[in-house]
Amino acid sequence: MDRRLFLAAGGLAAVSPALANSTAVGIAPADAPELSQAELFKQVNFHSDGLDHTPAEYAHLLQAMAAGGTLQADNYSRGGAVTALEQAFARELGKEAAMFVPTGTLANHLAVRKLAGADRRVLVQAESHLYNDSGDGAQTLSGLNVVPLSPGATSIALDDAKAWVERSAGGRVPTQVGVLSIESPVRRKDHAFVPFAQMQALCAYAREQGIRLHLDGARLFSLPQHSGHSVREYAALFDTVYVSVWKHFDGASGAILAGDASFIEGLYHVRRLFGGGLPHAWPVMALAEASVAGFEAGYAKSWQLAERWMALLGEDARFDFRRIEHGTSRFYLTVKGVTPEAMAQGLQPRGILIAHGPPGVAEIPMQVNLSILRSTPELLARKFIDAANG
Ligand SMILES: Cc1ncc(COP(=O)(O)O)c(C=O)c1O
Repeated sequence: MDRRLFLAAGGLAAVSPALANSTAVGIAPADAPELSQAELFKQVNFHSDGLDHTPAEYAHLLQAMAAGGTLQADNYSRGGAVTALEQAFARELGKEAAMFVPTGTLANHLAVRKLAGADRRVLVQAESHLYNDSGDGAQTLSGLNVVPLSPGATSIALDDAKAWVERSAGGRVPTQVGVLSIESPVRRKDHAFVPFAQMQALCAYAREQGIRLHLDGARLFSLPQHSGHSVREYAALFDTVYVSVWKHFDGASGAILAGDASFIEGLYHVRRLFGGGLPHAWPVMALAEASVAGFEAGYAKSWQLAERWMALLGEDARFDFRRIEHGTSRFYLTVKGVTPEAMAQGLQPRGILIAHGPPGVAEIPMQVNLSILRSTPELLARKFIDAANG
């Protein structure tokens, strides 16, 4: 069996014999019914964190799983496929327990809310999702004081954290900082990661100060490939870790929040308080478990193919690449003499999807994900050159 198919097929095959021929990169199940398989699981996308299944592909995989008899329903986001996913992530992360949450936005919120307890100050990166993209939810809904540090930077500078902790403690009303939350990779910094040594230093200082620690690791599983540190090494630094179920994995939505058993115990009541106890979570998350175990190997292979594809394209002087310092999945592509819009239009009928910025922005933001395993570097390079030729 082709190694890349083998890598991807392992997880699903373990779950369902009916899926033994299907893969995390989406090779259609052999006994698929009406839907035209010819059109499924073919597209390579350079704009997403994951495979970005179409509705037809997603329905197809779910149906195959149901037919295989391994799809277990949950009840209000408890039991069945939900429990299996929680246990799988707790194992992968080296944590005692984990809880499914319908979105990462809520997972971050629940984590810092409980970790804070009576100490309501929460330090975060100014560029974090928690500060920028959650609409002051933690402030408004949970009365937390979320303090953004080190604007513009990927990481919080240790001196900035110390200065704020000391300032809080030295006020007229001495205030203990309750939580330090770190996001890595950082979405708003082109998915760049916080260097491990910097993260260790921040966490060690926070521990000394009695500050609790949360990791927004929405895309945590891409880090080992680029930083050389395992997901368990990262998770061990923090009290709680959130990982997205739909970015790198095959969920349609969802998040995992992992931590000590005592932290997770009973937290589903608070999840429900926020309207997060979905009566039926399985339709959005049941496919995810099979894609977890094979992800890191598949991602490493995807980067191997991407490097080869870049080398091939680099032989054509029109193609230029810009890498990101401490980068993970993101890089930028420029094609001299061809607009990103024209490239997108030329690639789409060739089965390749790319994003582009507003008119006038020449750089194309690109992402490496497992969909590249559906093609070869040579074929991809040929298609990019053909698209550039118009
Ligand atoms: C770093 C980071 N944290 C949290 C989230 C929130 O996840 P969700 O969209 O599942 O609420 C996102 C989503 O884009 C993210 O990029």
